[in-house]
Order: sequence, then C-alpha cells, then structure tokens
Amino acid sequence: MKIAIANDHHGIELKGKIINYFLKNNIEYVNLGCDEENNVDYVDYAKALCDSIKSGETNYGILICGTGIGMSIAANKVKGVRSASVTNEYCAEFTRRHNDLNVLCLGGRTLGIEVAKRIVDIFLNTPFDGGRHLKRVEMYESNE
Ligand code: RB5
Repeated sequence: MKIAIANDHHGIELKGKIINYFLKNNIEYVNLGCDEENNVDYVDYAKALCDSIKSGETNYGILICGTGIGMSIAANKVKGVRSASVTNEYCAEFTRRHNDLNVLCLGGRTLGIEVAKRIVDIFLNTPFDGGRHLKRVEMYESNE
C-alpha cells in the first residue's frame, strides 16, 4: 500500500508530523507538496494527488489544507475519488466502513497531531464493509 500526501500552505506543519509517523511505521508514501510557505491554491494539490491515485501510482491519499474542507470539495470532483474532511475517530472509522473513503482530508489549522495520527491510523487500517454499502457507493460513483 502506497499513500500520496499533499497540502497547501496551511498543511505544511501537520504534513511533516504525519510523514514522521509514516517513517516510524514503515508506511510507503509519496509527498506531492507543497513544501514552501508561499500562498498556493489547494485545488492544484488536490488534483495532483487524485491523478496519482487514478494512475495507480498510489492507493490512498491524504490532503491537508486549513480545514480539510476545500481539499475535500476539490477531490470529490474527480471521478473515482471519495473524499471527506474528517475530524474525529468515529467518522474516520465509519467513512472507511460505509463510504470506502480513498482520500482523507485533514485540517492543518483545526487538528492536533495526536488526533490526526489516530485518524490516519484508522483510515489506513479499517476495511470497507461492502454489502449494502457497496451498492450505495456504486450509486454515487455512477452519478455524472
Ligand atoms: C487557504 O487560505 C484556505 O482557504 C485553505 O487552506 C482551506 O482551509 C480551504 O478549505
């Protein structure tokens, strides 16, 4: 499993801490930027990350902006991407089990690292329940 991670200028610090967490846990990742404090457009980073997933280069993605919300809106415009801004462990678990989330969005300005690490851990280790949830996922995946 390989994870893509990307962010805007509000996500640099949290991304650095999550990358440390990846390194400690031998999680393979690709860092798609941004890594400098300049004001950037989060939409560009969401697109680059979704392209990486669609190409098969990576399996899951983590996007960080100020709130995680702009990133999730941008990522959800890409077909095949299921993305949400997640702020707690319960939502992390159920958005994997019921929505088969493949792009986790986090708020660099709203989340502390300990909660973020728990959310990432749950995101990476919780399987999709399938069954009746698969039918629902297929229903929104087939929307144009
Ligand atoms: C950038 O100023 C800010 O809008 C962005 O980080 C994010 O919070 C958008 O949802």
